[in-house]
Amino acid sequence: MLGAAAMQLNERIIVALDFPSKELVEEFIGKFDHKDSLAFVKLGMELYYAEGPAMIEYLKAQGLKVFLDLKVHDIPNTAHGAIKSLAKYGVDILNVHASGGIEMMRRANDALKSENADAKLIGVTQLTSTDQTMLNDELGIAGSVDDAVLRLAENTKKAGLDGIVCSPLEVPKIKAELGQEFLTVCPGVRLVDNSSDDQKRITTPEKAFANGCDYIVMGRAITKAQSPHKTFEGLSKIMSS
Ligand code: C5P
Repeated sequence: MLGAAAMQLNERIIVALDFPSKELVEEFIGKFDHKDSLAFVKLGMELYYAEGPAMIEYLKAQGLKVFLDLKVHDIPNTAHGAIKSLAKYGVDILNVHASGGIEMMRRANDALKSENADAKLIGVTQLTSTDQTMLNDELGIAGSVDDAVLRLAENTKKAGLDGIVCSPLEVPKIKAELGQEFLTVCPGVRLVDNSSDDQKRITTPEKAFANGCDYIVMGRAITKAQSPHKTFEGLSKIMSS
């Protein structure tokens, strides 16, 4: 996989296919002209649990890159086995929860790289639906969200992973501390006039890329738009001009 900076902008916008069935995905994808638009999609729990690995095959057959977002989190041995099973499907990005710890992440990364050396493994830091109050009062983690994200990001790097999932707001600090080449994949992105839904640490696509995000992940702002392909294409054009 190319370094993100060398890619066209549309290849750096990962569209989250949070649909309950393959039929709805086919309908959605059918609206795009692949040659100059949709290039990278995210297959998450809702769709993967409904349709299974055949969904990866289908998306790959459409010429799309796939981020399989299953957020593996278990004891190191189980996480290793889970990633080993998933690695053989030829996805481009896979992820684990960084809060599973360094050993879990290291074992998961070994499993992925032994099957598919080009695939990237990234660690989920604090979900973008977590805010300061939730972090401190509900999860019992002291300090700021930034500190918690940085600690998990440092562990992810120590474990040898390729990067993290974080809010676009955290990217400048992460890049400054952990290096430009450490990948940042960022959900929590909203067009100016969109509602935040359940996301808390959000910003716009323009600011996300200006902050240095390698990839942004956009779901509802595109999938629920009146004209998803026009929204997506407008976005990649405005931002490349
Ligand atoms: O619809 P929306 O743009 O909020 O979708 C964001 C997507 O990114 C969802 O599929 C969600 O599961 C995923 N995600 C996230 N926060 C993380 C990791 C993944 O929102 N930290």
